[in-house]
Amino acid sequence: MTLLEVESVSKSFRGLRAVDDVSFTVEEGSILGIIGPNGAGKTTLFNLVAGALPPDTGSVRLAGTDVTGAKPHRISHAGMARTFQLMKPFGSLSVLENVAVARMAAGASRRRAPAEAADVVDRVGLTRWRDARSEGLPTAGLKRLELARALASRPRVLLLDEVLAGLVPAERTPVMELLETLRRDDGITLVFVEHIMAAVMRLSDSVLVLDQGRVLTSGEPHQVTQDPRVIEAYLGEEPTVAGP
Ligand SMILES: Nc1ncnc2c1ncn2[C@@H]1O[C@H](COP(=O)(O)OP(=O)(O)O)[C@@H](O)[C@H]1O
Ligand SMILES: [Mg+2]
Repeated sequence: MTLLEVESVSKSFRGLRAVDDVSFTVEEGSILGIIGPNGAGKTTLFNLVAGALPPDTGSVRLAGTDVTGAKPHRISHAGMARTFQLMKPFGSLSVLENVAVARMAAGASRRRAPAEAADVVDRVGLTRWRDARSEGLPTAGLKRLELARALASRPRVLLLDEVLAGLVPAERTPVMELLETLRRDDGITLVFVEHIMAAVMRLSDSVLVLDQGRVLTSGEPHQVTQDPRVIEAYLGEEPTVAGP
């Protein structure tokens, strides 16, 4: 079943077409990787899909429901969650409190939220940090907290914006394993933007390549990453770190 249908979405910022006529679909239970050079429009595309910005044109359907231009909380209730490239937890709150706030935003009662949040904290491997103030977390912990806050809404589809960025290779592997279990054990559909090609190759069922706001190509990971047009689009970029 097609869970997410994005059709011809576009967004301009003062004449710059940041996202230009982008379409794609995601099957329930699958993993779509989105790649492209810096400035290609990946984060803007997430903003359009998750309701942070209304598209100028085009439509977004989630499980058959039109959510184009809907507010983030409505889209969240419809089953979509996202992480942010620039993380913004409440620094003075503990890890557990941050996740409990997210759980309450998703409709949990004040009474139930802490216990439900604790399950999510365990799920992402932050048990040891549960009562730590989140501003004291190392990057890897902040990334996991960002994931936990998104999972707190119990999404059917999760959009991940560079969750592996800033992690050293030894920290990436367990996060990739966690993402795999979210799909396998929880049936969560994943759409992830990532620069680390090893992760794209390992996790993706299919890959969408953006360049200058447009879809350059899409298809199976090994096929797409060997496409000369894709290699060309990355020329001049920092070489992608080969991870595990
Ligand atoms: N809020 C904004 N206002 C103006 N320009 C923006 C805004 N957000 C993104 N852009 C521009 O849109 C283009 C795509 O940015 P972005 O979606 O962040 O790319 P990516 O995530 O692929 O690196 C860039 O040229 C960026 O400067
Ligand atoms: Mg980005």
